[in-house]
Amino acid sequence: MSLLSHPSPELDAAPELLPLPRKLTFTPDDWQILARFWFPVATSTEVTEGPLGATLLDVPLVVYRVGGDVVVADDLCPHRGTKLSMGEDQGDGEGIRCPYHGLRFGVAGKCTSIPAHPGGTIPERMHLRTYGAVERYGLVWTCLAAAPGDEPSIPPVPHWDDPGFQQINCPWIDIEAFAGRQLEGFLDVGHFAFVHHETFADPENQVVPEYTPVQTADGFEAEYWSTVSNLPPGTALEVSDDFLWLRHYRLHVPFTGTLVVYFPDGIRLSLMNAASPVSATRTRLFDARCRNFDTDQPLSEVYAFNLQVFNEDRRVVEHQKPENLPLDPKLEVHIPADRSSIAYRRALRAAGLSQFFSA
Ligand code: FES
Ligand SMILES: [Fe+2]
Repeated sequence: MSLLSHPSPELDAAPELLPLPRKLTFTPDDWQILARFWFPVATSTEVTEGPLGATLLDVPLVVYRVGGDVVVADDLCPHRGTKLSMGEDQGDGEGIRCPYHGLRFGVAGKCTSIPAHPGGTIPERMHLRTYGAVERYGLVWTCLAAAPGDEPSIPPVPHWDDPGFQQINCPWIDIEAFAGRQLEGFLDVGHFAFVHHETFADPENQVVPEYTPVQTADGFEAEYWSTVSNLPPGTALEVSDDFLWLRHYRLHVPFTGTLVVYFPDGIRLSLMNAASPVSATRTRLFDARCRNFDTDQPLSEVYAFNLQVFNEDRRVVEHQKPENLPLDPKLEVHIPADRSSIAYRRALRAAGLSQFFSA
């Protein structure tokens, strides 16, 4: 049955298909769904007036600042297909320059100069293909289905703007694994004693108390109470061994999770795990966190501790098989501790992603 000969109201309402990337590692259907979400592609601090390369869902992008805005565009010169991120910062704030024949691209990706023909007409098709872009939580977010100026849909980082909270972006790390596997690990409460015993967890504290994920508009949330502490090294805080820690998780389909850790006396650590899918087998993990304690601690110590935790997870996630995330519940074996993981897979299925997600 072809879409053209048998139109239906649902099919008529389906969003227009986006052009697929040249090298596609996802199934086309999964890619079309994922391309409609917002993901971070850089930290705000690494985006300058010079061109920065990034890849999202197999699409090479160039990111730069001009005229007070961040531009996210295809990393492809319309003239002869040169990679614009290979260009150098021109130091004049007038946009980027293609390294092949020197074309300039400025505000909104518009071509502003063709050096071989000064004063000549610039064809419309010489402008870059740009995407919606916004800076939030210290990160540059984009969406391959959004045009510049479109309203972004970005999950909140709890407490980010609350008084007394210090805002931190730990450096991103690259993981040779699928974003769904990484995000599922972020939600997993059964691995602390085995994977994180050198950082925050007690190797003897292995039992997972009951908890109940609750469905939300774009995923689910779960409140998890346990005696697993979350004290970073060098902290001024002291917490008794029998204190019950609350971890409040929120999952936003497809790859963003947040976690608020409740310390005693109103002390909080709030963090966002934003897994940006470079491809179906590579993830750039972005971090945005805030806290109302240890605010005078050097950030280098926060970064180092966080990197250690990330690397503990990475060791596992990079070797899981299959590399994708099986959404058919029969394809892996579950235990009661996996309620969040089951809720996550269910939420991805509800978003229309394929059972064996993704290529
Ligand atoms: S290829 Fe970019 S200016 Fe010619
Ligand atoms: Fe972990």
